[in-house]
Amino acid sequence: LSGVYSIMDHYKHEKVRAVEYVSTMHKAMDGVENFDYYSPTSLLKKLNEDQLKRVPPVVLLHGTNDIIVPVESSVKFSELLTALSIRMSLYLIPKMNHTEMVTDLMAPDRHFYHTVYGCIKQEYSKFQGYVD
Ligand SMILES: *[C@@H]1O[C@H](CO)[C@@H](O)[C@H](O)[C@H]1NC(C)=O
Repeated sequence: LSGVYSIMDHYKHEKVRAVEYVSTMHKAMDGVENFDYYSPTSLLKKLNEDQLKRVPPVVLLHGTNDIIVPVESSVKFSELLTALSIRMSLYLIPKMNHTEMVTDLMAPDRHFYHTVYGCIKQEYSKFQGYVD
């Protein structure tokens, strides 16, 4: 949900916004030298063919009005997943921002509740198809 998949890309975005020092990302990663190690993008690129076959289906949801983590994060990651033949779905939700992805799932009367929950339900029914 509105995720960071390349920590280096995210750090660059935070620098543009001049928030890289207040952000917890750099601190949580314990320095730039660990960005690669913790980035899903880098992790996937290191997997061999056997490991890639065992990656579960991935579902990405991202709001197009997100300025905290730009939608390009999910778009780029979806391109990598596709290039690696990993099953994935990408939902770009118009006009939704970063906060709403979290807050609007909390109550059915929130603006994006049914949109986001609808995507999750659709993916859940697909997943049922995989295991049956
Ligand atoms: C997201 O949109 C909501 C509703 O307009 C607003 O209250 C909130 O401040 C926005 N969050 C960000 C990070 O822009």
